[in-house]
Amino acid sequence: MKNIVLLGFMGTGKTGVGRQLAQDLGREFVEMDALIEEREKTTINDIFAEKGEAYFRALECEIARQLAARQGLVVSAGGGVVLNRSNVQALEESGILICLQAAPEEIYRRVVRETQRPLLRGSDPLAKIKALLDFRKPYYDKIKLQLDTTGKSIQQVVEEIKRLIR
Ligand code: S3P
Repeated sequence: MKNIVLLGFMGTGKTGVGRQLAQDLGREFVEMDALIEEREKTTINDIFAEKGEAYFRALECEIARQLAARQGLVVSAGGGVVLNRSNVQALEESGILICLQAAPEEIYRRVVRETQRPLLRGSDPLAKIKALLDFRKPYYDKIKLQLDTTGKSIQQVVEEIKRLIR
């Protein structure tokens, strides 16, 4: 049974949707960031602060390969997983990839109160979101199945994914 892998920018709903989808389908849910934190016994914030982004990206790469070797999972991937083409290729071999999208203003509303996103720190997170989305657009666009979550509830998105993968 293929994995279902949710990709997309921060705040597009990967974790909330993934958890609900896994429950509905009776599958195991795994979040890449949580696996990285477990492995390093610290938070994503601290990994970025103490070891840097390159170190985090290398871990992400390793976890992507480990998950690609498993089956039947619902995976919530970190927002930057698509930046490395080989991550996408590995996950694609054993999984159906779905890229979630959302409007920048909605992403901002969803993440503004959270403090666990080192890349969105600074005085103008909305501008940061827009700039990162712009830069990453070609990477996200490469994923065939796309789903806009703007203005939708978790359950609505879950139902749309069920239809997409049927
Ligand atoms: C990142 C997204 C985060 C986390 C890290 C970097 C990114 O995951 O992996 O902060 O580069 O987009 P979420 O997309 O789950 O927030």
